Amino acid sequence: MLLLTLETSCDETSAAVVRDGRHVLSNVIASQVDLHAKYGGVVPELASRRHLETINPVVEEALSAAGIGLEDLDGLAVTRGPGLVGALLVGLSFAKALAYGRGLPLVGVHHIEGHILAIQLEDSVAYPYLALAVSGGHTHLFRVDGIGQYRLLGRTVDDAAGEAFDKVAKMLGLGYPGGPIIDRLAAEGEPGDIRFPRPLLKKDTLNFSFSGVKTSVLNFLHKESKPPIGERLSAVAAAFQEAVVDVLTQKAFRAARNEGLERIVVAGGVACNRGLRRRFQEMAGPEGVKVWFPSPVLCSDNAAMLAVAADEYLLRGVQSGPELNAVSSWPLENAGQGLG
Ligand code: KG4
Ligand code: ZN
Repeated sequence: MLLLTLETSCDETSAAVVRDGRHVLSNVIASQVDLHAKYGGVVPELASRRHLETINPVVEEALSAAGIGLEDLDGLAVTRGPGLVGALLVGLSFAKALAYGRGLPLVGVHHIEGHILAIQLEDSVAYPYLALAVSGGHTHLFRVDGIGQYRLLGRTVDDAAGEAFDKVAKMLGLGYPGGPIIDRLAAEGEPGDIRFPRPLLKKDTLNFSFSGVKTSVLNFLHKESKPPIGERLSAVAAAFQEAVVDVLTQKAFRAARNEGLERIVVAGGVACNRGLRRRFQEMAGPEGVKVWFPSPVLCSDNAAMLAVAADEYLLRGVQSGPELNAVSSWPLENAGQGLG
């Protein structure tokens, strides 16, 4: 089955062509980072307008890079949510019009479902596994028993990890998005005598909290005699990243242990982080657990990741009708669309 998938939930306009929910023929991603950078974050209205301007050329490029035409498609998938409603609606309207016009089946897919199944495009990871979905909007631990079968084990009670990276980068005057910049700085330095708290780490919960780490960085900066530069800046970045990485890895391994799971998949934009990847791999051996990270292009927002679930849904007759609408929040446990 040859699917065209569309993702417009935030600040990336993406279209992909994927065969059989496994083979990526094209995965075109038009980032809006430049548009939002001067505001220090995503401006929803600007995001929607840019998606509108970009979606047509992005779809055309995806089809031509895959060497196919619309007549070759067997179905369509689109991110239904969670995300910015105005942004989601661009992808949804496009997909619905195309489905109606070409008589193609369409399915709406959960954004996080896309992230936590993206690894299947590169490696056949057997179910069940523990998924850590860690992005700008999510920091969630799920037990994944198969496509459409997800159980929430823990989540952030305040900021998402990516949000904390972005806010701390802003405090340090580093630009947007902050995650990759902090990652780069942290690689050049050591925390030295700087240490930030690891909220909820010792508590008997699989939930996370990152707003306290962010406040600690702010308090630390207030106490410094001058804004950190050079080595001091790298040390702050390294200390902040280490605190976040510590909490994410230890909770993920604890969750896997509790559930008796031997496989962990880390997904979402923050899964690009090199410090996080290193720590997971270091702990994997001693914990007797195997850890997978998708390639960076499949960690951050992209349309190809939707195809794993979409292919299965469409094969099993799960389809969305013209009433399909965007949702800003949508618990992943309800995303199974009858397969769960
Ligand atoms: O999954 P994603 O592309 O979009 C959302 O669904 O949110 O994730 C974006 C988030 C941003 O907060 C960004 O700063 C963060 O992922 N991010 C990183 C890195 N690359 C992207 N955070 C830490 N280290 C990175 N290398
Ligand atoms: Zn995402």
